[in-house]
Amino acid sequence: MPLVCLTDFQAYAQEHLSKSTWDFIEGGSDECFTRDDNIAAFKKIRLRPRYLRDVREVDTRTTIQGEEITAPICIAPTGFHCLVWPDGEMSTARAAQAAGICYIISTYASCALEDIVATAPRGLKWFQLYPTSDRQLNKQLVQRAEALGFKALVITVDTPKMGNRRCDIRNQLDLQRNLLLKDLRSPKERHTTPYFQMSPIDSSFCWNDITWLQSLTRLPIILKGILTKEDAELALKHNVRGVIVSNHGGRQLDDVPASIDALTEVVAAVKGKMEVYLDGGIRTGNDVLKALALGAKCVFLGRPILWGLAYKQGEHGVEEVLNLIKNEFHTSMSLTGCRSVAEINQDLVQFSRL
Ligand code: FNR
Repeated sequence: MPLVCLTDFQAYAQEHLSKSTWDFIEGGSDECFTRDDNIAAFKKIRLRPRYLRDVREVDTRTTIQGEEITAPICIAPTGFHCLVWPDGEMSTARAAQAAGICYIISTYASCALEDIVATAPRGLKWFQLYPTSDRQLNKQLVQRAEALGFKALVITVDTPKMGNRRCDIRNQLDLQRNLLLKDLRSPKERHTTPYFQMSPIDSSFCWNDITWLQSLTRLPIILKGILTKEDAELALKHNVRGVIVSNHGGRQLDDVPASIDALTEVVAAVKGKMEVYLDGGIRTGNDVLKALALGAKCVFLGRPILWGLAYKQGEHGVEEVLNLIKNEFHTSMSLTGCRSVAEINQDLVQFSRL
C-alpha cells in the first residue's frame, strides 16, 4: 500500500525500527504533554478559504535569510541519524538538496560536517550549535561551519541541560558511549588520542555569550527555542537575525505552550524586524499554511524526516516525505485561494471554540 500522509511514514518507522531507537525519536520529556499538544493545537485552528480566484499557477517558493527555497518547509536539526540509516545525515542532506530546501545540521550529527557538505555541496545548509563548556571547541565548530559554506548559525537555547526523557532512561539509552558519536574536532585538529567524551552542554551560556559568538563569525545568528515575547525582544536587542519558535518537539521543558500557540506572541514582539520560524507538530500542508498565516516565514520538520529516513534506503524516503508535504501545501494554497506565499495572511485562519 502506498504511504499517503506523514503519519503513514510514522507507522512504518515504528514497525521497522528497534524499540529503543523508536522511543528515542518519538519520546518527549516527562509526561509528553507538550509533545502531544504541538499536534493538538493545530486542530484548534480552522481555515477561512477564499474562492473564485485563479489558482492555475500556485508558487510555493519563498526566501529565508535572503536565500531562495522551493517551499517554506525545511529540516530541523535532529541528532544521530545513523541510528536510523547507516549513512545518516549524508542521506538527509542529499534529499534536502534535491528538494531545494534548507537543512539545519545538528551538533550531534553522526557524520562529519565535511562529509555532509561533500555529498550535497549545492544544498542550503545551516549549522546548529549546542554551546559546550569548551570555548575553543565552540569557536572551532563555528568557524569550521562558516568555512564549509554553511549560511547561518542556529543556537539552541532551550537546552541548558537535557530534558527528562523517561523512555530513554527506561531503555538505558546511552548515546555518549555509543560508537555513533563522532569526533567534533576538525580532521586537522585531531590527535592520536580519540576524543570520545562528548563535551557537556554549557549550562552557564547566556545573552553575553551571543555577543561573543557574533564576534567570531559573519554568519547570521538564529536562536532556536524562543517561546516568549520577553526573550524575543532580547533577541532583537542582541541583533540576532531570526528566531525559531520551538519547544524542541516537547523534549525539553514539559508543560510549555505548543509552538503554534506561542507563535503569535513572538511575531507581535519582533514587529517585522527579524524573521520568525516555527517547528513542532507540523504534519500536514494545512499545518504549514496555518503557521505561515500566523506569521512564520518558514517551518521546520523534526521527527517526520527521521521516519522518512527509516523508509526506502535513506534519502529516497526523506525525499518522499518532503515531496508529500510540499504537494499537500500546494493543495492547501490552491484550496484557500493563495497564489503565492506572500498572499498567505491571518485572515485565512480562525480559532475554533473547542
Ligand atoms: C531533536 N531536536 C533537536 N534540536 C536541536 O536543536 N538539536 C538536536 O540535536 C536535536 N535533536 C533531536 C533529535 C530527535 C530524535 C528529535 C525528535 C528532535 C528538536 C528538533 O530540532 C525540533 O525542534 C523538533 O523535532 C520539532 O518537532 P517535530 O517536528 O518533531 O514535531
